[in-house]
Amino acid sequence: MKILYAKDADTLSRYAADRFVEQIKSNPKSILGLATGSTPKKMYEYLGEDTHVGKVSFSEATSFNLDEYVGLAADHPASYHYFMEEYFFSKVDFKEGANSLPNGVAENLEKEALDYDQRIQDVGELDILILGIGSNAHIGFNEPDDVFEPLTHVVALDHSTRQDNARFFNSIDEVPTHAISLGMRAIMRAKKVLLLAFGENKAEAIRDLVKGKVDPKVPASILQLHANATILIDEGAASLLDESDYTSI
Ligand code: PGA
Repeated sequence: MKILYAKDADTLSRYAADRFVEQIKSNPKSILGLATGSTPKKMYEYLGEDTHVGKVSFSEATSFNLDEYVGLAADHPASYHYFMEEYFFSKVDFKEGANSLPNGVAENLEKEALDYDQRIQDVGELDILILGIGSNAHIGFNEPDDVFEPLTHVVALDHSTRQDNARFFNSIDEVPTHAISLGMRAIMRAKKVLLLAFGENKAEAIRDLVKGKVDPKVPASILQLHANATILIDEGAASLLDESDYTSI
């Protein structure tokens, strides 16, 4: 695991966007793994600008998102379908049908989860995957648990996750109780993983990820075993680490 530091989130977002541009340039048909949340927004903004000025094109690429809330249809403003459309898909030039997210309103959610996993297995591996991290160290919606869940699955969201995400809803009661999340198998098989973490609210999760042992109670800690994972942290997220733990960019 490489741990890279910059004082501000913008520098890290630009760095992550550059890795995506590099990836698409080396293989225009790349399969991208994508995340939602406040953290990757700036990276998506940079990639939108890069597309606009002709620096990169997503026209041959495809993507799979990490997760979606159960019970929110694609046109719900707090759904991850809606987020991706608003902040990324509408700003770049993917072809119609190139982007996949789990369907949170599928009639049979367990089947939807397994079918989604199978679709990823059928195309091979994600070439590059962007991750955020929860304050409880979740990646995707792989919440702290006794085991690492390998396949895409329906998950009951932690109270802390629902609290963290209540800002996107009118109240915590509106935050869905469940989600569909990619499992650890697809995450660990991704050829390149970039995890962005901004702010002091992520400092404990980052400390546990970087300095703790691999433990399903700290889901992100599995990345210690990944062959090509880069953790990108700003001043706040790095605040419980020692300077010797990271390299500045
Ligand atoms: P955030 O969420 O980017 O909104 O902080 C990250 C996550 O929960 O993975």
